[in-house]
Amino acid sequence: MNGKIMQKRILITSAIPYINGIKHLGNLVGSQLPADLFARYNRAIGNEVLFLCATDEHGTPAELAAAKAGKPVAEYCAEMHDVQANLAKGFQLSFDHFGRSSSQQNKELTQHFAGQLAKNDFIEEVDEKQVYSHADGRFLPDRYIEGTCPNCGYDKARGDQCENCTKQLDPTDLLEPRSAISGSTDLEVRDTRHLYLKQSALKDQLNNWIDGKIDWPVLTTSIAKKWLNDGEGLQDRGITRDLDWGVPVKKGLEDWTGMEGKVFYVWFDAPIEYIACAREWEDAGKGENWESWWRTDKGAQDVTYYQFMGKDNVPFHTLSFPSTIIGSKEPWKLVDYIKSFNFLTYDGGQFSTSQGRGVFMDQALEILPSDYWRWWLLSHAPENSDSEFTWVNFQQDTNKDLSDVLGNFVSRVTKFCRSKFGEIVPAGGELDERALKLIEEMQLKFDAYERHMNAIEIRKAAAELRAMWVLGNEFLQSAQPWAVYKTDPEAAAAIVRLSLNLIAFYATISAPFIPEAAEKMLRAMQLPKAKWPTSIENTLHTLPAETSFTVPENLFSKISDEDRQIWEEKFSGKRGA
Ligand code: MF3
Ligand code: ZN
Repeated sequence: MNGKIMQKRILITSAIPYINGIKHLGNLVGSQLPADLFARYNRAIGNEVLFLCATDEHGTPAELAAAKAGKPVAEYCAEMHDVQANLAKGFQLSFDHFGRSSSQQNKELTQHFAGQLAKNDFIEEVDEKQVYSHADGRFLPDRYIEGTCPNCGYDKARGDQCENCTKQLDPTDLLEPRSAISGSTDLEVRDTRHLYLKQSALKDQLNNWIDGKIDWPVLTTSIAKKWLNDGEGLQDRGITRDLDWGVPVKKGLEDWTGMEGKVFYVWFDAPIEYIACAREWEDAGKGENWESWWRTDKGAQDVTYYQFMGKDNVPFHTLSFPSTIIGSKEPWKLVDYIKSFNFLTYDGGQFSTSQGRGVFMDQALEILPSDYWRWWLLSHAPENSDSEFTWVNFQQDTNKDLSDVLGNFVSRVTKFCRSKFGEIVPAGGELDERALKLIEEMQLKFDAYERHMNAIEIRKAAAELRAMWVLGNEFLQSAQPWAVYKTDPEAAAAIVRLSLNLIAFYATISAPFIPEAAEKMLRAMQLPKAKWPTSIENTLHTLPAETSFTVPENLFSKISDEDRQIWEEKFSGKRGA
């Protein structure tokens, strides 16, 4: 690390995926993947990074999925956690720890927060009516009641939230409710006591806090502001449920009279897992002093904290979780920047987990290496609007960017060099006008690339990266070392030397997007570790003359029309059919 550059401490969390099933590519590009891009970039430029994610294991969906699989819920969750952890590895997601919201650490912290909130008078005990389903023999919590949204009229709104207008709901708000498990309308409202978090008492504080975040994406602040100030404004939230599976309701270490047999609502304990995960990370022996990342009285005052999530998660991260933190009156770190995403659609419709429509993480890795998906998804990240996955576009863009541009450059340069000079960086010759101009243009694009990466403008960053690959290709095309070689081998050597250095440069700067190909490129150039460029000029002398290299295996193969058609057909619905 250059002593003059201040090393920053960057905490990054991705929204933690639900345990019940394998996520589709839309889920992936909405949180885990962009968070990984940012984590890799920050590590590469020399910052100290703690990147955390986990599985979100509580709640009715987990219970029902376990029942369907015929397994005890704890066992089901343990298995699915491993499945998701392996898929994360397959996509090269570089979590420092992939935790579990059902961990002992999260149980303790969740109960601790509830105790603090109670002590500070932010909890209210409410006797309320709740929907009981005779057909299902159970209380129907939150998302297992479907009905019409009282806010927008959408007729498939769920009891926790309307997917259409993002309003957070309580199950009894729904009009014409039915059981989402059985479809039964034989529902009865019964009395039950629950805890409510008095978010409304924190409204002014939340408003001020969000007003201070002038650099946040509009998508984030507009959703937050909407629920803070529209209509009735910020509602108090029920944070307990009549379920078996979850964190038992306690006030810190004390029992909570009247709340026996109840658990905290999954959306109360899930974000607390961001904190607990750091403790799991330490307890697993992967690092130390987890509190220095989370307690502003213990070192976290110099941490910058970034969260990544889909837009449907924004209210929970801008209102509910901050209420928990602020209401604790303890010095826990609040998020500094929330990057949220719109949705990725699939071939003119929605990805659908229930209908098996679209491509799921396991299937994606079965047909192509992760870099294809990472590149396409990140370069089409749904930042300013929804974006659409189509097979034609996927085929076109990856063939062009990865094969025709980047892969082609690497292969032409290394093969040409091998045939004329051997697998060694050739000496001789000088950089000519054209080469100097290339370096100048490259520097401009590289500066823009860094700017966009720092601002987490992912599509713009991808566009600059692509443009840098294109510059190299155009340079090679116009410099024509194969023609020059016939009359002036030294001049050809200079062109090739610069081009081989460009490969090393590309490997380093592309690694956050396409880590596997970047690794192959680095290995081919026999560079042990990438060093982030400070100036292009210097970087392009990384490989001096006489250094040896190897011609890498083909980096990317093209997606054929035939494959595309097969996949198009295969993923059009009914997963596994
Ligand atoms: N499991 C939720 C989802 O997939 C996200 C939870 S994020 C956290 O939509 F904040 F609760 F952790
Ligand atoms: Zn609605």
